[in-house]
Amino acid sequence: MKISMIVAYGKNWEIGLNNQMLWHISEDFKNFKQITSGHHILMGRKTFESIGKPLPNRTSLVLSTKGFSSEGVHTFDSIEKALDFARQNGEEELFVIGGANIYETMFKYVDKMYLSEVDFQGEADAYLKQIDFSTWDLIEQKEYEEIRQEQKLISPSWKFKVYVKKD
Ligand SMILES: NC(=O)c1ccc[n+]([C@@H]2O[C@H](COP(=O)([O-])OP(=O)(O)OC[C@H]3O[C@@H](n4cnc5c(N)ncnc54)[C@H](OP(=O)(O)O)[C@@H]3O)[C@@H](O)[C@H]2O)c1
Repeated sequence: MKISMIVAYGKNWEIGLNNQMLWHISEDFKNFKQITSGHHILMGRKTFESIGKPLPNRTSLVLSTKGFSSEGVHTFDSIEKALDFARQNGEEELFVIGGANIYETMFKYVDKMYLSEVDFQGEADAYLKQIDFSTWDLIEQKEYEEIRQEQKLISPSWKFKVYVKKD
């Protein structure tokens, strides 16, 4: 089973504040939905609470050490148990979808990264650990312009990049 990570981060590697996202980019949400649909998605308990419900057409695996449970998701108290569950279900590409804690712990297992680099700098309390790209190959890249309506910034510009780990 391949392990992939999907994350959107700002210029200072910021990913969240008060358990919420820092921007609203509808094209990025669409991308996220398209890429992860049909797959197992692995997240920390805080990220699940921030989303608030199981995402449709995906199998939600939630990590918690505190016996957390919620309708429509599978909860595990260890990464190994969550990965075994996905493998036994025949998953070929599992997606790590956050948050900061889970990205950091899972990074050593990740084979492929789907990254949204957002043109944003601002207050945050959750960060991605800086990635050393020298051990990764960029295989796909697309740039998106900012969206404004009557001068007001609706969504910042961003770059979508896909990397695979070098052999
Ligand atoms: N920009 C993005 O792409 C993106 C994506 C996702 C999330 N986020 C942001 O990230 C932030 C949340 O990140 P976070 O680091 O605070 O929390 P998190 O990673 O979502 O969840 C942390 C929780 O996961 C559980 N956990 C962690 N490691 C575990 C392990 N090995 N075994 C079992 N359970 C484990 C623990 O839950 P218990 O306390 O229940 O034991 C821990 O408190 C939010 O601001 C959210 O908006 C951003």
